[in-house]
Amino acid sequence: MKSHGDFTQRYGSWGLIAGASEGIGAAFAQALAARGMNLVLVARREALLNRLSEDLHQGYGINVRCVAGDLADASFLEGFRRIIEDINPGMVVYNAAYSPIGDFINVPAADLMKVVDVNVRGPVVLVRMALPPMIKHGRGAVILMSSLAGNQGTPRIAAYAASKSFNRILAEGLWYELREKGVDILACFAGAVRTPGYAGASQKDAPGTLDPGVLAEKTLAALGRGPVVVPGAVNRIAYWIMGRLLPRTTAVRIMAGSTKDLVPSGKGGA
Ligand SMILES: NC(=O)c1ccc[n+]([C@@H]2O[C@H](COP(=O)([O-])OP(=O)(O)OC[C@H]3O[C@@H](n4cnc5c(N)ncnc54)[C@H](OP(=O)(O)O)[C@@H]3O)[C@@H](O)[C@H]2O)c1
Repeated sequence: MKSHGDFTQRYGSWGLIAGASEGIGAAFAQALAARGMNLVLVARREALLNRLSEDLHQGYGINVRCVAGDLADASFLEGFRRIIEDINPGMVVYNAAYSPIGDFINVPAADLMKVVDVNVRGPVVLVRMALPPMIKHGRGAVILMSSLAGNQGTPRIAAYAASKSFNRILAEGLWYELREKGVDILACFAGAVRTPGYAGASQKDAPGTLDPGVLAEKTLAALGRGPVVVPGAVNRIAYWIMGRLLPRTTAVRIMAGSTKDLVPSGKGGA
């Protein structure tokens, strides 16, 4: 791990985490706070954000701003223009996601559009706002949370899986465009992670399930080493078998087997 000074010198003194109140987002907040980065924490549940903010301020002496709101809301997203101008974040983690569970045809159209709003429009808008100052200063990083569910079509979470594929592909293109501008772009292609969202949707841990803190550390360690990280050895094997070895239709069938028992919870994860 780089020293605190190295990390904030490389990525600036402020980070912004979209989807920070619990689970993986809160783990990124801990990991960045431990590296001495001041943070803007974004999520809908203000009480959770305030508690985390207090813990991080007490534990690491960093400054924390909480911004409560819904990333599906275009006017809420627009408000980040001023925040970005103000704090000039050198690190943006887009972690929030929405994942309604069920066959596409049984999910209300409004819920499918919310998948697009939170998982696709949100990162596009926020990253487009955050990149110009990063490029101007020649330093920065963007982490987009993707998922092994987006390695192929995934029945019962079809729109969510497609949105996670979008984030991975977006990261790859940006990685190339920005590779000589001092900005590291990384998609985290996560397998199962023990978060409240995952626990709400899944009855038991899948093989290779990681703790959020481990995932956050492995992801930060991968910054600057290419556009995609797959944290965890079991997940890397699954990624290779499902994405490279098997015919895609076989991979989709296998995913259908693993999502058939997902419980609708209205939360992120998978
Ligand atoms: N957990 C897994 O097994 C797993 C596997 C692969 C990929 N991932 C990816 O990892 C990321 C996080 O997963 P997770 O399991 O930690 O999810 P989670 O437990 O549902 O947490 C998501 C975070 O985002 C916030 N959030 C969700 N929707 C939001 C919205 N509309 N506006 C503002 N904030 C919102 C939530 O806070 P509020 O509810 O307070 O708003 C929460 O802090 C997601 O992108 C997911 O696709 C997770």
